[in-house]
Amino acid sequence: MNPKDNAMNTIEVYNARLHNLRNVRVSIPKNRFVVVTGVSGSGKSSFIFDTLHKEGQRVYLEASGISHDSFGWDSFDYIEGLSPTIAARQRTVSSINPRSTVGTTTRLLNLLANVYAQEGVSASETGRDRGREDRLPGMFMFNSPHGACPQCDGRGSVTEVNFRHLWPDASASLEQWHDLAYRFPNKTKEAKAYIAGRLDNFAAAYGCSTDTPFSALSEEARSVFLTYRPRRTQSKKEKPLIFYGVEVVIEEKIKKIDFKRFPELQIKRACPSCQGYRISRQAFDIRLENRHIGELCLMDALELKEFIARYRASRAGSPFTNHILQEMARKLECLETVGLSHLNLYRETPTLSGGEAQRLHIMSHLTARMNSIVYIFDEPTAGLHETEKAKLIESFLRLKEQGNTVIVVEHDESVIRRAEHIIDFGPMAGKLGGEVRYQGDYDGFARCGESLTAAYLKQKSQPVKSYRFVRDEASPS
Ligand SMILES: Nc1ncnc2c1ncn2[C@@H]1O[C@H](COP(=O)(O)OP(=O)(O)OP(=O)(O)O)[C@@H](O)[C@H]1O
Ligand SMILES: [Mg+2]
Ligand SMILES: [Zn+2]
Repeated sequence: MNPKDNAMNTIEVYNARLHNLRNVRVSIPKNRFVVVTGVSGSGKSSFIFDTLHKEGQRVYLEASGISHDSFGWDSFDYIEGLSPTIAARQRTVSSINPRSTVGTTTRLLNLLANVYAQEGVSASETGRDRGREDRLPGMFMFNSPHGACPQCDGRGSVTEVNFRHLWPDASASLEQWHDLAYRFPNKTKEAKAYIAGRLDNFAAAYGCSTDTPFSALSEEARSVFLTYRPRRTQSKKEKPLIFYGVEVVIEEKIKKIDFKRFPELQIKRACPSCQGYRISRQAFDIRLENRHIGELCLMDALELKEFIARYRASRAGSPFTNHILQEMARKLECLETVGLSHLNLYRETPTLSGGEAQRLHIMSHLTARMNSIVYIFDEPTAGLHETEKAKLIESFLRLKEQGNTVIVVEHDESVIRRAEHIIDFGPMAGKLGGEVRYQGDYDGFARCGESLTAAYLKQKSQPVKSYRFVRDEASPS
């Protein structure tokens, strides 16, 4: 639907009064880049997120045929012309799924896996393309059972017990080492005498005593003392040594407890089987330009974009893969636009910074090509460099050009200057705020004497953020 066909080209809010809002009447032009300003605590989030976005979600559910209680109806009188809203608060955009990565959330990984399935060349069977027709994209994806490295389950790393942190000094006696193993993390239920008997068995077998320091053991004895476990099937002639190596004892105990409770005992290292590439042996063998998919997934997005561009130009290809590669190029370019081209496809989304996570979210909307949506973002440029800010502003304008409305809460001057419409809350925080002090274009705003933000833009004597201190002085509580 073209937004110009909408009967309403504004969103009209009558008497919003949630939290500190004082029955504010706001008119927001649609299909514009709108910036909401005001000191901390003045009511920006109460208006944008808790009033407008709540109602936008309700509108969306209603449009989807899901009837919804008129929740929050008493927080305003009436909102007209609102379309479905999508919002991203800075700190809460985090993925619940710990296995989600930049590649999975953008679906770039799926696209790349399709290219490998279609056009990958086996490194071990050069020249022949046997079995290409049975290749499925899942074989190249760490999050698929067909593609994941079996040793690390596609995580790329393994968590092991940091024994160095646990063991006493090498000069400590075998008995001290042994006791420590059975005491960790709590005493074992097995009888003390029984445990002592095992250590005696070891001492007898290696001609030492329980008082012998660990450091005095031979190399072979050390390895037994640490990692031995009696074999299950034995011939009747040999009498097995009944002893459990101290590391084996710990490992068995750890299986029964929540290992996460002991972060200091964990050591994470690259998976020895896949070296961090997360994929199975078969996938290692299939290459594009002699690189397997794991290598491409560890390139940063900028490098990958260049690789894909070169690869596209180097071959004719089928219409299907050409389309996939074009889609990849478009997404990689979007990642660059939102200032995320330093990330690779394997980067886990829960480890992104608040700003990075929010911009990844923005990127997914840039590529979605939806229109008539109201997008709401909270301080999206926080922490960005001027050149990165400029790119992000461009991406907002692009979202708008696709037929959407973009509303951002921002303190940043370079963003405020680009606003097509400004809504300023104030004058102060809490009960001393909650009013709309200005709504209109930038020029009018800069001339407006009633807003602290506008006054700042005129003077530019101190950063806008310093107004955050106003809340403490003005807050009635
Ligand atoms: N859930 C709530 N219940 C009661 N009061 C609230 C609630 N949320 C916010 N407020 C109060 O309403 C006022 C406006 O808060 P709001 O979060 O809208 O400010 P803001 O302009 O978004 O500030 P900031 O720039 O710090 O995000 C503040 O005085 C705040 O303490
Ligand atoms: Mg806020
Ligand atoms: Zn692995």
